[in-house]
Amino acid sequence: MAALHDRSSQHRSRLLRRSGGFAVVVLMSGCAGEQSALNPAGREAEWIADLFWWMAGGAVVVWLGMVALTVYALRGGKSANPKWFIIGGGAIFPTVVLAVLLVYGLAMLPPLIAPAPPGSLKIAVTGEQWWWRVRYQPAGEQEVVLANEIRLPVNEPVEFELDSPDVIHSFWIPSIGGKMDMIPGRKTRLTLNPTRTGTFRGQCAEYCGTSHALMAFYVVVMEKAEFARWLEQQRAPAAPAAATAQLEMRGRDAFFTNGCAACHAIRGTEANGVVGPDLTHVGSRVSLGAGILPNETSAFRRWIEHTDKVKPAVLMPHWNMLPPEELDALAAYLESLK
Ligand code: CUA
Repeated sequence: MAALHDRSSQHRSRLLRRSGGFAVVVLMSGCAGEQSALNPAGREAEWIADLFWWMAGGAVVVWLGMVALTVYALRGGKSANPKWFIIGGGAIFPTVVLAVLLVYGLAMLPPLIAPAPPGSLKIAVTGEQWWWRVRYQPAGEQEVVLANEIRLPVNEPVEFELDSPDVIHSFWIPSIGGKMDMIPGRKTRLTLNPTRTGTFRGQCAEYCGTSHALMAFYVVVMEKAEFARWLEQQRAPAAPAAATAQLEMRGRDAFFTNGCAACHAIRGTEANGVVGPDLTHVGSRVSLGAGILPNETSAFRRWIEHTDKVKPAVLMPHWNMLPPEELDALAAYLESLK
Protein backbone atom coordinates (compact mmCIF):
# COMPACT_ATOMS: atom_id res chain seq x y z
CA MET A 1 0.00 0.00 0.00
CA ALA A 2 2.83 2.32 0.97
CA ALA A 3 4.60 1.39 -2.28
CA LEU A 4 1.44 2.14 -4.24
CA HIS A 5 1.08 5.45 -2.50
CA ASP A 6 4.72 6.24 -3.20
CA ARG A 7 4.30 5.40 -6.85
CA SER A 8 1.16 7.51 -7.26
CA SER A 9 2.78 10.49 -5.55
CA GLN A 10 5.86 10.05 -7.77
CA HIS A 11 3.55 9.94 -10.77
CA ARG A 12 1.80 13.08 -9.54
CA SER A 13 5.01 15.00 -9.04
CA ARG A 14 6.24 13.87 -12.48
CA LEU A 15 2.97 15.10 -14.00
CA LEU A 16 3.27 18.36 -12.12
CA ARG A 17 6.86 18.82 -13.32
CA ARG A 18 5.82 18.04 -16.88
CA SER A 19 2.79 20.32 -16.88
CA GLY A 20 4.86 23.01 -15.14
CA GLY A 21 7.49 22.64 -17.87
CA PHE A 22 4.75 22.78 -20.49
CA ALA A 23 3.33 25.99 -18.98
CA VAL A 24 6.78 27.57 -19.01
CA VAL A 25 7.29 26.55 -22.65
CA VAL A 26 3.88 27.99 -23.59
CA LEU A 27 4.59 31.20 -21.68
CA MET A 28 8.06 31.59 -23.17
CA SER A 29 6.88 30.85 -26.71
CA GLY A 30 4.69 33.94 -26.33
CA CYS A 31 7.94 35.92 -25.99
CA ALA A 32 9.35 34.78 -29.34
CA GLY A 33 7.94 35.59 -32.75
CA GLU A 34 7.64 38.55 -35.08
CA GLN A 35 5.63 40.79 -32.76
CA SER A 36 7.18 40.57 -29.31
CA ALA A 37 8.76 43.24 -27.16
CA LEU A 38 10.69 40.41 -25.48
CA ASN A 39 12.30 39.32 -28.75
CA PRO A 40 14.23 42.54 -29.46
CA ALA A 41 15.67 43.32 -32.89
CA GLY A 42 16.49 46.94 -32.17
CA ARG A 43 18.54 48.93 -29.68
CA GLU A 44 15.52 50.64 -28.15
CA ALA A 45 13.60 47.35 -27.92
CA GLU A 46 16.58 45.87 -26.05
CA TRP A 47 16.36 48.68 -23.50
CA ILE A 48 12.65 48.10 -23.07
CA ALA A 49 13.11 44.33 -22.71
CA ASP A 50 15.87 44.94 -20.11
CA LEU A 51 13.55 47.28 -18.21
CA PHE A 52 10.85 44.61 -18.26
CA TRP A 53 13.18 41.88 -16.94
CA TRP A 54 14.57 44.13 -14.21
CA MET A 55 11.05 45.08 -13.13
CA ALA A 56 9.87 41.46 -13.27
CA GLY A 57 12.92 40.31 -11.27
CA GLY A 58 12.46 43.12 -8.73
CA ALA A 59 8.76 42.32 -8.38
CA VAL A 60 9.61 38.66 -7.64
CA VAL A 61 12.14 39.71 -4.95
CA VAL A 62 9.64 42.09 -3.31
CA TRP A 63 6.94 39.42 -3.48
CA LEU A 64 9.18 36.79 -1.88
CA GLY A 65 10.05 39.29 0.87
CA MET A 66 6.35 39.95 1.49
CA VAL A 67 5.58 36.20 1.61
CA ALA A 68 8.45 35.67 4.08
CA LEU A 69 7.18 38.49 6.31
CA THR A 70 3.61 37.18 6.13
CA VAL A 71 4.74 33.69 7.16
CA TYR A 72 6.80 35.22 9.96
CA ALA A 73 3.81 37.22 11.20
CA LEU A 74 1.42 34.25 10.96
CA ARG A 75 3.78 32.16 13.08
CA GLY A 76 3.57 34.78 15.78
CA GLY A 77 6.99 36.30 15.14
CA LYS A 78 7.57 39.60 16.88
CA SER A 79 9.57 42.47 15.53
CA ALA A 80 11.91 44.30 17.85
CA ASN A 81 10.21 47.58 17.00
CA PRO A 82 7.12 47.48 14.73
CA LYS A 83 7.48 51.21 14.05
CA TRP A 84 10.63 50.53 11.98
CA PHE A 85 8.79 47.91 9.93
CA ILE A 86 6.20 50.51 9.03
CA ILE A 87 8.65 53.32 8.30
CA GLY A 88 11.21 51.07 6.60
CA GLY A 89 8.90 48.73 4.68
CA GLY A 90 6.02 51.15 4.18
CA ALA A 91 7.82 54.36 3.25
CA ILE A 92 11.59 54.17 2.76
CA PHE A 93 11.81 50.90 0.81
CA PRO A 94 9.05 51.65 -1.75
CA THR A 95 10.25 55.23 -2.19
CA VAL A 96 13.80 54.10 -2.95
CA VAL A 97 12.75 51.22 -5.24
CA LEU A 98 10.19 53.30 -7.19
CA ALA A 99 12.60 56.25 -7.51
CA VAL A 100 15.33 53.99 -8.94
CA LEU A 101 12.85 52.42 -11.40
CA LEU A 102 11.49 55.83 -12.39
CA VAL A 103 14.96 57.24 -13.12
CA TYR A 104 16.00 54.06 -14.98
CA GLY A 105 12.78 54.04 -17.06
CA LEU A 106 12.68 57.77 -17.82
CA ALA A 107 16.35 57.79 -18.88
CA MET A 108 15.34 55.73 -21.92
CA LEU A 109 12.95 58.33 -23.24
CA PRO A 110 15.16 61.19 -24.55
CA PRO A 111 16.98 59.14 -27.26
CA LEU A 112 13.62 57.75 -28.47
CA ILE A 113 12.26 61.20 -29.21
CA ALA A 114 15.54 62.91 -30.20
CA PRO A 115 16.19 63.53 -33.91
CA ALA A 116 18.36 60.93 -35.67
CA PRO A 117 21.85 62.13 -36.70
CA PRO A 118 21.85 64.39 -39.80
CA GLY A 119 21.63 62.45 -43.05
CA SER A 120 19.72 59.56 -41.43
CA LEU A 121 16.80 57.92 -43.14
CA LYS A 122 13.52 59.75 -42.48
CA ILE A 123 10.12 58.18 -42.88
CA ALA A 124 6.81 59.97 -42.39
CA VAL A 125 4.02 57.66 -41.30
CA THR A 126 0.40 58.79 -41.11
CA GLY A 127 -2.22 56.78 -39.25
CA GLU A 128 -5.33 56.42 -41.41
CA GLN A 129 -8.56 54.49 -40.73
CA TRP A 130 -7.27 51.72 -40.56
CA TRP A 131 -4.01 51.62 -42.44
CA TRP A 132 -0.63 53.34 -42.60
CA ARG A 133 0.46 55.89 -45.19
CA VAL A 134 4.23 55.60 -45.46
CA ARG A 135 6.43 58.24 -47.10
CA TYR A 136 10.19 57.72 -47.40
CA GLN A 137 11.95 61.05 -47.39
CA PRO A 138 15.59 60.38 -48.34
CA ALA A 139 17.78 63.48 -47.85
CA GLY A 140 17.89 65.56 -51.05
CA GLU A 141 15.71 63.15 -53.01
CA GLN A 142 12.06 62.98 -53.92
CA GLU A 143 9.87 61.13 -51.45
CA VAL A 144 8.64 57.62 -52.14
CA VAL A 145 5.08 56.79 -51.12
CA LEU A 146 3.82 53.38 -50.16
CA ALA A 147 1.48 51.88 -47.57
CA ASN A 148 1.32 49.36 -44.76
CA GLU A 149 4.91 48.28 -45.10
CA ILE A 150 8.18 49.67 -43.85
CA ARG A 151 11.60 48.41 -44.84
CA LEU A 152 14.70 49.48 -42.98
CA PRO A 153 18.44 49.05 -43.37
CA VAL A 154 19.98 47.14 -40.45
CA ASN A 155 22.25 49.01 -37.99
CA GLU A 156 21.20 52.42 -39.34
CA PRO A 157 19.22 54.96 -37.32
CA VAL A 158 15.79 55.82 -38.68
CA GLU A 159 13.64 58.77 -37.71
CA PHE A 160 9.88 58.40 -37.97
CA GLU A 161 7.72 61.50 -38.18
CA LEU A 162 4.23 60.51 -37.10
CA ASP A 163 0.85 62.16 -37.48
CA SER A 164 -2.82 61.49 -38.17
CA PRO A 165 -5.56 63.43 -39.99
CA ASP A 166 -8.43 62.55 -37.67
CA VAL A 167 -8.17 60.23 -34.68
CA ILE A 168 -5.31 59.20 -32.38
CA HIS A 169 -3.37 56.05 -33.31
CA SER A 170 -0.21 54.66 -31.79
CA PHE A 171 2.74 53.48 -33.86
CA TRP A 172 4.30 50.36 -32.38
CA ILE A 173 6.84 47.83 -33.65
CA PRO A 174 7.35 45.74 -30.49
CA SER A 175 10.50 43.96 -31.69
CA ILE A 176 12.23 47.16 -32.82
CA GLY A 177 11.02 49.65 -30.22
CA GLY A 178 8.29 52.11 -29.56
CA LYS A 179 5.55 53.06 -29.09
CA MET A 180 4.52 56.60 -30.04
CA ASP A 181 1.12 58.24 -30.39
CA MET A 182 0.02 59.71 -33.74
CA ILE A 183 -1.94 62.81 -32.86
CA PRO A 184 -4.05 64.95 -35.22
CA GLY A 185 -2.63 68.45 -35.64
CA ARG A 186 0.75 67.54 -34.22
CA LYS A 187 3.89 65.78 -35.39
CA THR A 188 5.53 63.29 -33.05
CA ARG A 189 8.91 61.70 -33.54
CA LEU A 190 10.33 58.25 -32.87
CA THR A 191 13.97 57.37 -33.53
CA LEU A 192 14.89 53.69 -33.71
CA ASN A 193 17.96 51.58 -34.48
CA PRO A 194 17.19 48.11 -35.85
CA THR A 195 19.99 45.65 -35.02
CA ARG A 196 18.89 42.42 -36.70
CA THR A 197 17.53 41.57 -40.15
CA GLY A 198 14.16 39.85 -40.43
CA THR A 199 10.45 40.46 -40.81
CA PHE A 200 8.60 41.94 -37.85
CA ARG A 201 5.02 42.95 -37.26
CA GLY A 202 3.79 46.32 -36.06
CA GLN A 203 0.38 47.11 -34.68
CA CYS A 204 -1.68 50.17 -33.80
CA ALA A 205 -1.56 50.39 -30.02
CA GLU A 206 -4.24 53.00 -29.35
CA TYR A 207 -7.93 52.26 -29.77
CA CYS A 208 -8.93 54.20 -32.90
CA GLY A 209 -12.30 52.80 -33.94
CA THR A 210 -14.06 49.69 -35.20
CA SER A 211 -11.11 48.05 -36.94
CA HIS A 212 -8.35 49.20 -34.59
CA ALA A 213 -7.30 45.58 -33.99
CA LEU A 214 -6.99 45.09 -37.78
CA MET A 215 -4.54 47.97 -38.21
CA ALA A 216 -1.18 46.27 -38.52
CA PHE A 217 1.84 46.41 -40.81
CA TYR A 218 5.06 44.60 -41.55
CA VAL A 219 8.57 45.86 -41.03
CA VAL A 220 11.34 44.21 -43.01
CA VAL A 221 14.88 44.91 -41.81
CA MET A 222 17.38 44.30 -44.62
CA GLU A 223 21.09 44.56 -45.34
CA LYS A 224 21.99 48.08 -46.44
CA ALA A 225 22.67 47.27 -50.14
CA GLU A 226 19.51 45.19 -50.39
CA PHE A 227 17.52 48.03 -48.83
CA ALA A 228 18.94 50.55 -51.34
CA ARG A 229 17.88 48.28 -54.22
CA TRP A 230 14.41 47.89 -52.73
CA LEU A 231 13.95 51.66 -52.31
CA GLU A 232 15.02 52.25 -55.94
CA GLN A 233 12.49 49.68 -57.07
CA GLN A 234 9.75 51.35 -54.97
CA ARG A 235 10.68 54.72 -56.47
CA ALA A 236 10.16 53.45 -60.04
CA PRO A 237 6.71 53.74 -61.63
CA ALA A 238 4.63 50.59 -62.06
CA ALA A 239 5.66 48.41 -64.99
CA PRO A 240 2.90 48.47 -67.64
CA ALA A 241 0.84 45.27 -67.86
CA ALA A 242 2.29 43.10 -70.61
CA ALA A 243 0.11 43.04 -73.72
CA THR A 244 0.25 39.25 -73.60
CA ALA A 245 -1.11 39.10 -70.05
CA GLN A 246 -4.75 39.40 -71.06
CA LEU A 247 -6.26 38.91 -67.62
CA GLU A 248 -4.08 41.66 -66.18
CA MET A 249 -4.93 43.98 -69.09
CA ARG A 250 -8.62 43.40 -68.40
CA GLY A 251 -7.98 44.07 -64.73
CA ARG A 252 -6.23 47.31 -65.57
CA ASP A 253 -9.26 48.42 -67.62
CA ALA A 254 -11.59 47.40 -64.79
CA PHE A 255 -9.52 49.46 -62.35
CA PHE A 256 -10.16 52.61 -64.39
CA THR A 257 -13.75 51.97 -65.51
CA ASN A 258 -14.83 51.28 -61.91
CA GLY A 259 -13.32 54.48 -60.60
CA CYS A 260 -10.64 52.90 -58.39
CA ALA A 261 -8.22 55.63 -59.55
CA ALA A 262 -10.28 58.27 -57.73
CA CYS A 263 -8.91 56.96 -54.41
CA HIS A 264 -5.73 55.08 -55.31
CA ALA A 265 -2.53 56.10 -57.07
CA ILE A 266 -0.52 53.83 -59.34
CA ARG A 267 2.50 55.81 -60.45
CA GLY A 268 3.13 55.36 -64.16
CA THR A 269 -0.63 55.36 -64.92
CA GLU A 270 -3.28 58.10 -64.76
CA ALA A 271 -4.37 56.81 -61.34
CA ASN A 272 -3.42 59.51 -58.84
CA GLY A 273 -6.00 59.31 -56.02
CA VAL A 274 -4.70 60.07 -52.55
CA VAL A 275 -7.61 58.96 -50.34
CA GLY A 276 -6.54 55.31 -50.12
CA PRO A 277 -3.22 53.47 -50.12
CA ASP A 278 -0.75 53.98 -52.99
CA LEU A 279 -0.84 50.78 -55.07
CA THR A 280 2.19 51.32 -57.34
CA HIS A 281 4.02 48.22 -56.05
CA VAL A 282 1.25 46.67 -53.96
CA GLY A 283 2.01 43.17 -55.31
CA SER A 284 5.50 43.32 -53.77
CA ARG A 285 4.32 43.87 -50.20
CA VAL A 286 4.35 41.29 -47.44
CA SER A 287 0.64 41.63 -46.65
CA LEU A 288 -2.64 43.12 -47.82
CA GLY A 289 -5.28 45.13 -45.98
CA ALA A 290 -2.69 46.52 -43.49
CA GLY A 291 -1.13 43.34 -42.15
CA ILE A 292 -4.22 41.14 -42.13
CA LEU A 293 -4.20 39.15 -45.40
CA PRO A 294 -1.42 37.31 -47.22
CA ASN A 295 -0.31 38.97 -50.44
CA GLU A 296 -1.84 36.65 -53.03
CA THR A 297 -4.35 36.94 -55.86
CA SER A 298 -7.19 35.24 -53.95
CA ALA A 299 -6.70 37.67 -51.04
CA PHE A 300 -6.88 40.67 -53.39
CA ARG A 301 -10.14 39.34 -54.73
CA ARG A 302 -11.53 38.68 -51.25
CA TRP A 303 -10.56 42.18 -50.18
CA ILE A 304 -12.16 43.96 -53.16
CA GLU A 305 -15.34 41.89 -52.99
CA HIS A 306 -15.83 41.99 -49.21
CA THR A 307 -13.93 44.94 -47.71
CA ASP A 308 -16.75 45.41 -45.21
CA LYS A 309 -16.39 41.85 -43.91
CA VAL A 310 -12.59 41.71 -43.93
CA LYS A 311 -12.23 45.09 -42.21
CA PRO A 312 -15.53 46.29 -40.72
CA ALA A 313 -16.34 49.99 -41.20
CA VAL A 314 -13.38 50.53 -43.55
CA LEU A 315 -13.81 53.57 -45.83
CA MET A 316 -13.35 51.56 -49.06
CA PRO A 317 -16.73 50.27 -50.26
CA HIS A 318 -17.10 46.59 -51.17
CA TRP A 319 -17.40 45.74 -54.85
CA ASN A 320 -19.43 42.54 -54.67
CA MET A 321 -21.66 43.84 -57.47
CA LEU A 322 -18.86 43.28 -59.99
CA PRO A 323 -19.05 40.13 -62.16
CA PRO A 324 -16.68 37.37 -60.95
CA GLU A 325 -14.52 37.62 -64.11
CA GLU A 326 -13.95 41.30 -63.45
CA LEU A 327 -12.98 40.64 -59.82
CA ASP A 328 -10.53 37.95 -60.96
CA ALA A 329 -9.02 40.32 -63.50
CA LEU A 330 -8.69 43.16 -60.98
CA ALA A 331 -7.02 40.83 -58.48
CA ALA A 332 -4.60 39.54 -61.13
CA TYR A 333 -3.70 43.09 -62.21
CA LEU A 334 -3.03 44.29 -58.64
CA GLU A 335 -1.00 41.20 -57.80
CA SER A 336 1.12 41.88 -60.92
CA LEU A 337 2.16 45.30 -59.57
CA LYS A 338 5.46 44.09 -58.13
CU1 CUA B 1 -5.16 52.94 -35.28
CU2 CUA B 1 -5.81 51.82 -33.31
